[in-house]
Amino acid sequence: MNIRLETKDDFRQVEELTREAFWNLYVPGCDEHYLCHILREHKDFISELDYVVELNGIIIASIMYTESFLLSDDQEKVRTVSFGPLCVHPDYQRKGIGTALIEKTKSLVKNMNIPAIIIYGDPHNYCKHGFRNGIDYHVSNIDGEYPLGLLVLELQNGFFGKKKWKIKQTDAFYFDHEKVLEFDRQFVEKEKMHKYSQEIFKMNIRAFLR
Ligand SMILES: CC(C)(COP(=O)(O)OP(=O)(O)OC[C@H]1O[C@@H](n2cnc3c(N)ncnc32)[C@H](O)[C@@H]1OP(=O)(O)O)[C@@H](O)C(=O)NCCC(=O)NCCS
Repeated sequence: MNIRLETKDDFRQVEELTREAFWNLYVPGCDEHYLCHILREHKDFISELDYVVELNGIIIASIMYTESFLLSDDQEKVRTVSFGPLCVHPDYQRKGIGTALIEKTKSLVKNMNIPAIIIYGDPHNYCKHGFRNGIDYHVSNIDGEYPLGLLVLELQNGFFGKKKWKIKQTDAFYFDHEKVLEFDRQFVEKEKMHKYSQEIFKMNIRAFLR
């Protein structure tokens, strides 16, 4: 298993892998493969954190990072990073590969002197890696709320202190869903289905801490 930077030749494979990993998981179908496609060209994309896992010449996992920033209640602005999409091909999940990708890139982010990784994700996937809900560090969304899925990994001990912070992620995550449908037509047809994981997701994104 080789953890290495993504190259141009991997682009399509990574998009196919991402589609396989996310298909029908959070919504019928998925849009994460389109997100990979547009992210690499976006100004907030961080190419030095764009990693894949290769096994016998096949890409089986991928992680992509973008710039984000924190704004404190006294107007301090701090650079942070966010990852997503992160995925492992369904045939290779639960073997420690996602963990390996997080660990590898986490140490690179630490060396970049960035105090935190801040993401929106399922707590079940990330608390085991040290992520805590934003509310524990007084980190809210731009509206001052603490969504269940707003997760913070502090990389510099005690960085957050007593200040209140708001996280601003890249606008690359807001895209036209019509374009996803158009993009998806380039791939082998797959059936869109309802799965119970979509119900859990719908609950999670409407849940807030206080
Ligand atoms: C979420 C995801 C990236 C995690 O990657 P992964 O490689 O499956 O993760 P890991 O194997 O490192 O850890 C997952 C579980 O496997 C367990 N595990 C790790 N190595 C193991 C091994 N050798 N044998 C058995 N179990 C193992 C871990 O303890 C963990 O268990 P838990 O969920 O009960 O805590 C992957 O499952 C995925 O792509 N999911 C679909 C897309 C997605 O949801 N992405 C994240 C968006 S929020």
